[in-house]
Amino acid sequence: MMAHIELQNVSRAFGKEQERVLAVDGVSLTIEKGEIRCLVGESGCGKSTTGKMIAGLLPPSGGRILFDGKPIDRLNKEEYRAYRHAVQIIHQDPYASLNPVQTVKQIITTPLLRHRKVSGSQQAYRRALELLEIVDLTPAADFLDKYPHQLSGGQRQRVSVARALTVDPKFIVADEAVSMVDVSIRVSLLNMLMRLKNEFDVTFLFITHDLALAKYFAWEGAISVMYLGRVVEDGPTPRVITDPRHPYTQALLAAVPEADPELTHRKRRIALRSADIPSLLNLPPGCTFHPRCPYFVEGECDVSAPPLEAISEGGRVACPVRKDEHVSLLIPS
Ligand SMILES: Nc1ncnc2c1ncn2[C@@H]1O[C@H](COP(=O)(O)OP(=O)(O)OP(=O)(O)O)[C@@H](O)[C@H]1O
Ligand SMILES: [Mg+2]
Repeated sequence: MMAHIELQNVSRAFGKEQERVLAVDGVSLTIEKGEIRCLVGESGCGKSTTGKMIAGLLPPSGGRILFDGKPIDRLNKEEYRAYRHAVQIIHQDPYASLNPVQTVKQIITTPLLRHRKVSGSQQAYRRALELLEIVDLTPAADFLDKYPHQLSGGQRQRVSVARALTVDPKFIVADEAVSMVDVSIRVSLLNMLMRLKNEFDVTFLFITHDLALAKYFAWEGAISVMYLGRVVEDGPTPRVITDPRHPYTQALLAAVPEADPELTHRKRRIALRSADIPSLLNLPPGCTFHPRCPYFVEGECDVSAPPLEAISEGGRVACPVRKDEHVSLLIPS
């Protein structure tokens, strides 16, 4: 089957000369139709940059991105328009992405009218009400005349989702869509997104720095773990969570608190050799995780960048030293 979205060795540089950094460095991944893919990793590892490139908001500096099998830089005008509608991004900060001088009604009806999804303002009004209900902003009529600053973080995020839905998207990049809201409403936002996936047949790229969220949202999907611009491990979520192979994935998982304090207590700590994340301006040679890695092998890990290699249990791991080793993160009681 043809992948819905495919990244082939995609890179993205920022800055010039001495200041030049590779925010995304040779990422290859495929996302199938109907899939939920999570992109996880610490702040600055290149998640948003990857999401923006997939949504067509930022051109790659190297490699290529295919949409339904076609490179997006080779689409004709009509195909490109269809792609830009099909792939929508919900930004990390809904405050910055919603126009502060527009009411909710304007935010939703403007794209409906501009892209001729409705024929006239009466129909636009009705569709706006429908979309607000879909994202659980009810009674919908109460929200139409509100400005973004009159809404809570969670409500703003729902408006962003409703706006993305105006163009009937097939693929949604949700960039930290629930990270800015209170824990108490996170679950209901996540459930709303999950419902969209099922009812509207939307494929999701869910970006988060929080592995616990990835586990909740994408248990039936897959996780890709990024470190300093590269994917270091990916695979079906249950495999990545229960049988992580890359030492970086293990360290991330070890840091996730469990709901059950007894389990948290029994969790193995992964002692990193260093807590510092290297600067993109001065990356270590070889595997960029090696200065922090407890399994560092001198003369190997610091020499060449490890390739992402398939493992038989599912997915890929960029660590020839540890890719076949199981580590239980729970200390037996
Ligand atoms: N427009 C830009 N100009 C210069 N550097 C940038 C730009 N956008 C991102 N970067 C740099 O690229 C790197 C990756 O940024 P990115 O926003 O993709 O990370 P992220 O994984 O989304 O982080 P976070 O979890 O904090 O959102 C960072 O070092 C960032 O400073
Ligand atoms: Mg980001």
